[in-house]
Amino acid sequence: MSQLLVKGGGHLHGEVVIQGAKNSVLPILAATLLTKDEVEIQACPRLRDVDASIRILRSLGCKVRWEGDSLLVSTGGLSGCGISDGLMREMRSSAIFLGAILARCGQAELSYPGGCELGPRPIDLHLSGLRDLGAEINDAGGVLYCKAACLRGREVVLSLPSVGATENLMLAACGAEGVTTIANAAREPEIMDLQAFLQACGAKVSGAGSSTVTIEGGVPLHGCIYRVMPDRIVAATYLCAAAAAGGEVFLRNAREEHLSTVTAVLREAGCTIQADAAGIACACGGWLKAVRPVRTAPYPGFPTDAQAVLMAALLRSQGATVFEENIFENRYRHVDELTRMGANIRVSGRTAVVTGVDALCGAAVYCTDLRGGAALCIAGLAAEGETRAYEIGHIDRGYEDIARDLRALGADVVREEE
Ligand code: UD1
Repeated sequence: MSQLLVKGGGHLHGEVVIQGAKNSVLPILAATLLTKDEVEIQACPRLRDVDASIRILRSLGCKVRWEGDSLLVSTGGLSGCGISDGLMREMRSSAIFLGAILARCGQAELSYPGGCELGPRPIDLHLSGLRDLGAEINDAGGVLYCKAACLRGREVVLSLPSVGATENLMLAACGAEGVTTIANAAREPEIMDLQAFLQACGAKVSGAGSSTVTIEGGVPLHGCIYRVMPDRIVAATYLCAAAAAGGEVFLRNAREEHLSTVTAVLREAGCTIQADAAGIACACGGWLKAVRPVRTAPYPGFPTDAQAVLMAALLRSQGATVFEENIFENRYRHVDELTRMGANIRVSGRTAVVTGVDALCGAAVYCTDLRGGAALCIAGLAAEGETRAYEIGHIDRGYEDIARDLRALGADVVREEE
């Protein structure tokens, strides 16, 4: 079992290149099914969830190979339209293959995606949207049998701006006859990245980044070379690491326009942040201050994926900060582990109150989920002594190599394989 050993107490100084975005590349990998030509995806991060997508594509008969940091996908040999239960359970994002397979094959057979450590994550909006486009979906014994001899474009209204449902419908709509509009669409930057990828393949998609996305279906798509946007949550993680440990860091490629709610909170806490086209510089010295309530919300609100890492940064702040988690039911599982390190956090329902303490103390802790695991590393940097983080497979789902990156920023973090 691998572990991360974090020696805390030092300031950070250094520069790191921000990896390509996990939440962009996963739907883009599903979208490669929409063309038979080869697609080259540059800046593709090497992650556990990307490996799971590669295994799904290969199981469908596609050819996938790495060339440096590019992933080359060729779906010309597609030979199936079903995904095994084992592969579906590997990650939540496997659901996004549904829209793409339906658009390509007119039928699909797959089970529900993997259970989630953040609480229930239904896909009812994905399914009702696909039904609106004409798909017939029957559910028996946990398997979804989907048929769509002909998908037809129309207006689909989402009852909440789900990221995954928006992406799934964008992919299905590319294979539908006529125009689809998705109303109350999610506005996340990753949706814009998916749109840009689809446009690079020749698709007629517009509106991503606003609440209405329009797709003109039935346009034949071709291959392309596409560079994935930098990962805004990884950037937020390293900004929070610098805030927690103090020091000066530069995050190359990070884009502040994707992160403005996070940088605003860190500035309020006392960090100096400057951004330009090359990246984001962050300097933090002395004690951080508590900030006004942090409420997670769909983009452009404060990202739920940055809640845990910001909480870790504020553990030694002066005063108390209220967090309100509004997206997922069970997203405070890192709190018990942080408490072992001396943090003062009280959770009640969707609210957590973090009262700053003078010192944290290194401890043995267990990663409970992807961002919660990153939060434990950040707390370890701010703690006295050694923190040993177990169950780091969670972190590998979304960070190429968090130990390498934190070392580039001057931290003392090593990965130990047992
Ligand atoms: C995506 C991100 C994830 C991020 C989340 C919210 C990817 C691969 N993952 O996840 O990192 O934390 O957005 O920003 O991009 N919901 C339903 N029914 C549905 C779909 C969603 O009730 O059919 C609910 C979910 O339970 C959740 C909320 O809507 O409470 C938001 O989910 P959604 O935006 O769909 O998140 P994901 O696409 O799963």
